[in-house]
Amino acid sequence: MDLMKITKPLLAWYKENARELPWREDKDPYKIWISEVMLQQTRIEAVKQYYTRFMEELPTVSDLATIEEERLLKLWEGLGYYSRAKNLKKAAEKVMKEYCGTMPGSYVELLSLPGIGEYTAGAIASIAYDERVPAVDGNVLRVVARVKGSRENVLLPEVKKQVTKELSEIMPEEAGDFNQALMELGETVCLPNGIPVCEKCPLKEFCIARKEGITAEIPIREKKTERRKEERNVFLIRCGEEIAIRKRPEKGLLANLYEFPNFEKKEQSVEDGLAEWGFSVKQIKEKREYKHIFSHVEWKMSVYEVEVEEKNAEFLWARREELLEKYPIASAFAPIVAQL
Ligand code: ADE
Repeated sequence: MDLMKITKPLLAWYKENARELPWREDKDPYKIWISEVMLQQTRIEAVKQYYTRFMEELPTVSDLATIEEERLLKLWEGLGYYSRAKNLKKAAEKVMKEYCGTMPGSYVELLSLPGIGEYTAGAIASIAYDERVPAVDGNVLRVVARVKGSRENVLLPEVKKQVTKELSEIMPEEAGDFNQALMELGETVCLPNGIPVCEKCPLKEFCIARKEGITAEIPIREKKTERRKEERNVFLIRCGEEIAIRKRPEKGLLANLYEFPNFEKKEQSVEDGLAEWGFSVKQIKEKREYKHIFSHVEWKMSVYEVEVEEKNAEFLWARREELLEKYPIASAFAPIVAQL
């Protein structure tokens, strides 16, 4: 998918469909800044009222820089994330001191202000000055991921970086319209939660997610999961030439695969576990420890090599060759298999 193809139809669509919003009446960077910060945490409809009230009371950077914090927080009440309001004031003070009260005129300078990150700097610089920089928010990531049919995890910083780079390369002169068109498409057409209104989309002929019928699956948003840690004792149990294995349950982790007998350390001691399996032990050696990482759990395993007097009926007993050839052993146990 050549992303270059999207610029023209997207701009044409935006000209026809751009919503009338109070901060779109002119290209005042101060107004755009305030609206963008409000929009980061709140729906557009709700922002309109806050924005109008805010602008009535604080129409210039100088007003914002000099307002009492308590009054500012009152104006912000209900929007939440109050550190954003406090950063607005700090940034306004800096604009007064270092830029004589005029909003900085470039992406890079905007970035140096408190509370202004890549998205906000990109939005202000492109919308107010048509500087050719992207402004990548969640809407933009969704639209681009779907158009490309990309299954990459959009929550990863490197994926956002790549999208930013790709958009920089196709950024037209009307950078502000282009960025807003992507956001607006995401907000009004290319909706999240699997219900996009594809018939109305100016990009429908290029969109790979639509062509493949996978708009419901994209974008992929995988949060880093905290892995549960389990410490397990694992047993390489030999009786003569034979080795004990068992089949795992048909549901759940490593379903239906074979494994060496094991249990969680906190369940019982090594001695109790072996006794419960009915063994009398001839010899036991603790071997090495190793780790295996699954998606939601991590096993830290201590391996014991044990020689027993008699086989039990609970396990399957196989000679080395049979074990290697016949039974699919879960790869979590590969380091043990490798040393058989
Ligand atoms: N969402 C956040 N900022 C926006 C903008 N400038 N235009 C459309 N949607 C937005």
